[in-house]
Amino acid sequence: MACFTCRWRSLFIYLCTSCISLFLLFVYGIMVFCFVLNKLERSTVVASSPVRFVAPGTFSNGSFNPLPETFWSLRRHEDAIWNRLQLSMDRHFNPILRPRNIKTGSRNRSSYESLRTQAFSDVTDLAKMRKSFDRLPRIREFVSHMHRRDYPALIQPVGGCGAGTTDEREAPLLLLAIKSTEMNFKNRQAIRQTWGQVGRVAGQWSNRKGGGRGGGHVRRVFLLGNGDAGVRLSEALQMESERHGDVLQWDFRDTFFNLTMKDVLFWSWLSRSCKRTLFVFKGDDDVFVNTPRMVAFLLDQLKKPQAHKTIGDFMTGDVITAGLANRVRRSKYFIPYGFYQGVYPMYAGGGGVVYSGLLARRLLHVSERVHLFPIDDVYVGMCMVRINARPVHHPAFLTFDFPHGEEEKRCSYHTILLVHKRSPAQIVKLWARLKMSQAQCRDTPLRRAGEKENKPEP
Ligand SMILES: *[C@@H]1O[C@H](CO)[C@@H](O)[C@H](O)[C@H]1NC(C)=O
Ligand SMILES: *[C@@H]1O[C@H](CO)[C@@H](O)[C@H](O)[C@H]1NC(C)=O
Ligand SMILES: *[C@@H]1O[C@H](CO)[C@@H](O)[C@H](O)[C@H]1NC(C)=O
Repeated sequence: MACFTCRWRSLFIYLCTSCISLFLLFVYGIMVFCFVLNKLERSTVVASSPVRFVAPGTFSNGSFNPLPETFWSLRRHEDAIWNRLQLSMDRHFNPILRPRNIKTGSRNRSSYESLRTQAFSDVTDLAKMRKSFDRLPRIREFVSHMHRRDYPALIQPVGGCGAGTTDEREAPLLLLAIKSTEMNFKNRQAIRQTWGQVGRVAGQWSNRKGGGRGGGHVRRVFLLGNGDAGVRLSEALQMESERHGDVLQWDFRDTFFNLTMKDVLFWSWLSRSCKRTLFVFKGDDDVFVNTPRMVAFLLDQLKKPQAHKTIGDFMTGDVITAGLANRVRRSKYFIPYGFYQGVYPMYAGGGGVVYSGLLARRLLHVSERVHLFPIDDVYVGMCMVRINARPVHHPAFLTFDFPHGEEEKRCSYHTILLVHKRSPAQIVKLWARLKMSQAQCRDTPLRRAGEKENKPEP
């Protein structure tokens, strides 16, 4: 009898010990697995970034596989300033953590501003993180000013919504908002004489037969910061503004990393002075735009079924799907690890993009809760993610120029909405060429997806 229980007991102990060992082995296995995954993630980031860094337009077909999401990593991007600041902001508006904060309608500017300031004090080791930028003057400069947005306007177009503000009965179809600098007088002049002409623009046929005829009112404004070029140039700019009424200049230094301010302040100006505009084109002053086609293309958008529902999300251009931050120090787009980590959201290349006025208003609103990012088109993408909208790629936006040998074809410029990059002299010539071939090329369709595209080497 005694022996019977004793046998059971030893069997029990025997089983238990092996169970416990198996369990420990299992835990150990899981730990090793997580550790390896974490390592792997880090090494892919390091190894792949120089190769895959994004020049705009590189992966526009949408099939590029983004980096693995690091859901198992608890310490996600905690040593990058922007990620940390934004995490604090996003937490505040997280519908699960803080369901009451979602009702943002009643918020005003100053309350958003204090939230952003709050984020800076939430990040406790900010000073330490900043130290890593000691040898990177551009990013250091950006970080020390990234809380500021209140730059006043120095020059504003008189009479409201830029050049071409006349006919108030009809809502303007398109506002051309062109990023320029004080020095680029020639570019502005070329644009004024050519694709940037204001007034009523007749649309040219686009893809569908009979679609997009008619026309719409086009207006124009140039967006400038304050170059340090001195008194002479600013006087000239003042005169230019009086003459053309299309200059909108703010009092911040016109540097590449300050371009994001042009988006934020432009949206704010637009919501005050240009409320009714249906579409906005925002682009550089060294692009060529086929405005008649653009007008037709936009009229087509308005005619789509359900347009009244989808237009609030409408943005199209040369879309980059899973861009990685550029880690090449010499590059203009260089963003150090200490500032931002992770994949960029889907965004439309800043060379030229068109979106609806309705979307611009939503972007203005959401931009209050997104910390400034030094690269303007990526910043717009970050705002888009937070309103759950996506830019749509259109192959007629050639931010990387024509594929080899296609530019020479007679109707080539009738197949595009935009091409980068063209000098003022080229712009004038191309406009003349566009006008001359209008009759012959009237029915040429816009470039479509699937046509051979010139993918630049990454
Ligand atoms: C998209 O681009 C990737 C990478 O450049 C390529 O491998 C893939 O075949 C492309 N897909 C399509 C549908 O063109
Ligand atoms: C709006 O701003 C003022 C300060 O200018 C503040 O006192 C008020 O609480 C804010 N309103 C809301 C709804 O946050
Ligand atoms: C942006 O503009 C402000 C105001 O002029 C200036 O102080 C700052 O240095 C600029 N930022 C960058 C990154 O150039």
